[in-house]
Amino acid sequence: MDTKLLYIDTIGCQMNVYDSEQFAKGLRPLGYTLTSSLDTADLVIVNTCSIREKAQQKAFSFLGRLATLKRKNPDLIIGVGGCVAQQEGGRILERMPHLDFVFGTHAVGRLPKIVKEIELKRQSFVDIDNSGGMDGLEPIAVMPSAEDNQSPIRFVTIMRGCDNHCTYCVVPHVRGREVSRNPENILKEIRNLVKSGVREITLLGQNVNSFGKKEGSCSFPELLFQIHDIEDLLRIRFTTSHPKDLSRNLIDAFSDLDKLCRHIHLPVQSGSNLILRRMNRKYKREEYLEKVDRLHSIYPDIAISTDIIVGFPGETPEDFDRTLDLIKQVEYDNLFAFKYSDRSHAPATGYPGKVSELVKKERLEAVLDLGKKYAAKKNRTLIGSTELILVEGFSKKQRKSVLDRKINGRQWSGRTSTNKIVNFTNGRGSESNDGISKGQMIRVQIDKASVHSLSGTVKDSISHAAGNPLRLSAGSLKGGESYVAQS
Ligand code: 5AD
Ligand code: SF4
Repeated sequence: MDTKLLYIDTIGCQMNVYDSEQFAKGLRPLGYTLTSSLDTADLVIVNTCSIREKAQQKAFSFLGRLATLKRKNPDLIIGVGGCVAQQEGGRILERMPHLDFVFGTHAVGRLPKIVKEIELKRQSFVDIDNSGGMDGLEPIAVMPSAEDNQSPIRFVTIMRGCDNHCTYCVVPHVRGREVSRNPENILKEIRNLVKSGVREITLLGQNVNSFGKKEGSCSFPELLFQIHDIEDLLRIRFTTSHPKDLSRNLIDAFSDLDKLCRHIHLPVQSGSNLILRRMNRKYKREEYLEKVDRLHSIYPDIAISTDIIVGFPGETPEDFDRTLDLIKQVEYDNLFAFKYSDRSHAPATGYPGKVSELVKKERLEAVLDLGKKYAAKKNRTLIGSTELILVEGFSKKQRKSVLDRKINGRQWSGRTSTNKIVNFTNGRGSESNDGISKGQMIRVQIDKASVHSLSGTVKDSISHAAGNPLRLSAGSLKGGESYVAQS
């Protein structure tokens, strides 16, 4: 079989990253291998996002630029997947005739068949059928290959769609009703990932707390317990938990499950009850703060991050002040903030009281500034502490070879259990043989802190003794009894 080159451009969230990996796996039996060079590709797939206008524009502008490439190489096949594909369907092909096919969020499993058809018939094709529930959404079972992402950390989508209908959000329209995957398939997938060297997984879903509810399979905490039993898996993360559904069982799971990282992403969106009601978030500011307090009082070292939308229709300066005030109360470890963006099919698009771009920009800057202040404060408290890090790979600076001369040896990167990026070296100045490798658990002494990351020096590496509990947050590391220091 001829080897053909596949280039995938992924825009948007972690779910799209996961889906793009599925595209590559599914197309491997057709002879496609991944390339990072657009110019040499035989097939280009753009995995799109429509959560905000900006993401959608990014997709269209990249797709538009592909026209030149198609003129140079008329045999090139170009496909569009993801949320914009689902939303726009055939209209994309009308607007951009140089594209060959459009496949929606429920057509991931059908991609190989679609590409085969196009290779044979060279006719444009649209598949945005979303009537099949989880059919075609289970990942394609292919043996891992050298071409696979070699990172020790991976995403695993456990459910798709959303039934919450927040009034600003296009997800329920483009991703459809909530559907959970079969727990056995999830476990099988994670076991295979671990066999191929993966040590940390992040479970993905729009609202992980409703996992399995409709299907009557197992609950999300039960799933966590089963995943926790997988040998050689060192860390488990998940995102996202809707604040209205954050259950007692899930909160308890943080103490029961040593591998569960001490971080929770809890999007609040606004600090004003009026706006929360109009967003259809189904919780009040007070209820949210109560849950945060409970988390902080049980786990003083837990990191909490959030999403905030500024300039939702009708948001007054007083409403906005309530948001700033809530950020001050919670002191988030990290926050993501967005200017409200009208989405077709989202009810808030029709709401009166639109906030001007200028005001949205000012409010966004104020939220981001405040967010940075607390992120820096939280990071500073870690200076001098020893943190357990799972080595993910070389640091950005090392990859770009822009290290300053004062740094001793190769610089690696990983995260704390609380999801903070740590860049580190072994401090001995040895370039090639510093004894550090991807997927290793390492103890790092934190020397410096900035808003976005920490840096430090290795104290020792840790090997995970099978069956031993793994509590990986620094706050509860007392002497490291359960770990075996490696030479
Ligand atoms: N405008 C701005 N931000 C949005 N988000 C979702 N929809 C919109 C929108 N229409 C943000 C929310 C969500 C995050 C993933 O994107 O904060 O949590
Ligand atoms: Fe969108 Fe709300 Fe569902 Fe999140 S919970 S995907 S914001 S509708």
